Amino acid sequence: GAPVTVDLTAVEPGQKLSVTWRGKAVWVVRRTPEMVASLDKVTADLTDPESKSSLQPAYVKGAGRSIKPDVLVTIGNCTHLGCIPTFRPEHPAPDIHPHWEGGFFCPCHGSKFDLAGRVYKGSPAPVNLVIPPHRFASDLSVVIG
Ligand code: FES
Repeated sequence: GAPVTVDLTAVEPGQKLSVTWRGKAVWVVRRTPEMVASLDKVTADLTDPESKSSLQPAYVKGAGRSIKPDVLVTIGNCTHLGCIPTFRPEHPAPDIHPHWEGGFFCPCHGSKFDLAGRVYKGSPAPVNLVIPPHRFASDLSVVIG
């Protein structure tokens, strides 16, 4: 499939945009500084905080699994059986997890992911959400694929 260019100028910090690439939902989240800071608060709750066994390009780095700290690009399918998790940026949310800092919740079997798509321990999903190939064409323009 052809690459998809996403214009982020209309996406407010804290919001998620969904586009279709190769028949899959790809999410682009503009993380606020608070969201970026939250990523280090949940490390102990995660299955694979350094994404060692998760699918992502080599050029995405760190806890944020991103090129730029404020922009997450991830495939919107649960790594358990492929359901589409819901974006749950609010926190605290003790109904989801006692240490919830915002992220994604899969309604099918309850997998939980943080704001970098990293899976919480105890989820049926074994690995973090998949990061597709992407690059920035300009500051607020990201090309998927
Ligand atoms: Fe998401 Fe099973 S498909 S938890």
